[in-house]
Amino acid sequence: MTTKTANKTVIKVKGLRKSFGSHEILSGIELDVRQGEVVCIIGPSGSGKSTFLRCLNLLEEPSDGSIAINEEVIYPRKQSFSKNDMALRRIRSHVGMVFQQFNLWPHKTVLNNIIEAPLLVRGKDKKDAIVNAEQLLMKVGLKEKRDAYPTSLSGGQQQRVAIARALAMDPKIILFDEPTSALDPELVGEVLKVMKDLAAEGMTMVIVTHEMGFARDVADRILFMDQGVVEEEGSPLDIFSQPKSERLRQFLMSILDSAFI
Ligand SMILES: Nc1ncnc2c1ncn2[C@@H]1O[C@H](COP(=O)(O)OP(=O)(O)OP(=O)(O)O)[C@@H](O)[C@H]1O
Ligand SMILES: [Mg+2]
Repeated sequence: MTTKTANKTVIKVKGLRKSFGSHEILSGIELDVRQGEVVCIIGPSGSGKSTFLRCLNLLEEPSDGSIAINEEVIYPRKQSFSKNDMALRRIRSHVGMVFQQFNLWPHKTVLNNIIEAPLLVRGKDKKDAIVNAEQLLMKVGLKEKRDAYPTSLSGGQQQRVAIARALAMDPKIILFDEPTSALDPELVGEVLKVMKDLAAEGMTMVIVTHEMGFARDVADRILFMDQGVVEEEGSPLDIFSQPKSERLRQFLMSILDSAFI
């Protein structure tokens, strides 16, 4: 942690706002993430966690504020926003994203899912892309699934492929949006293990999660979001042992309650 605080800032968000119609979902978010930091975001359903992550790689267009990734201002932009322009693709290729629903291509093999973006977006050589994909499959423990189709895999395996696919673009940052929420409980651990390994290797990660044990063990910092703002922020110890705001206390109590139902 002490070494990470000296690292350069790789995500800088100032006064970020997002509205859908007249409904303001994000009401001025501030966030600085240092290289190698693991930041977990917790908070009640509808508080804007996914919308915030989606703004970070411009899957969603913010309404106001600014976002810089690796010191490059990606919002506001000079060009108008078109969903598929090359500049956006380039930005997203540095900011990997792993979703709750794995979003793998069902008609492509595991290997082809992983090499697709490096070939198309990065223009990588096919042989190199395949070698890299095989190494990534080894890393996530799925070497033998190279030629399988996603539907033949368990949810945990599919999510590990999705992580390998994100890594194939050699991202500087990976955003995870509840990566284990769609999984059967017995498959959660294998995905969290891969994420822990990435954290230990120094990957910068922003993770929306309901896995409080994981957040406590792996996060350098935890943000509690509520109603479109960061209501409280601190180390896992601060957040779980000494919550200051009443809303965070209530949220933690509600989680404890549901864990015993
Ligand atoms: N495309 C959209 N159009 C209109 N409203 C939206 C859109 N996307 C999200 N919202 C609204 O924004 C609010 C925040 O949604 P968001 O998905 O960011 O919350 P969340 O904190 O991720 O919740 P959860 O824990 O349930 O995933 C919700 O009220 C949601 O209905
Ligand atoms: Mg969400």
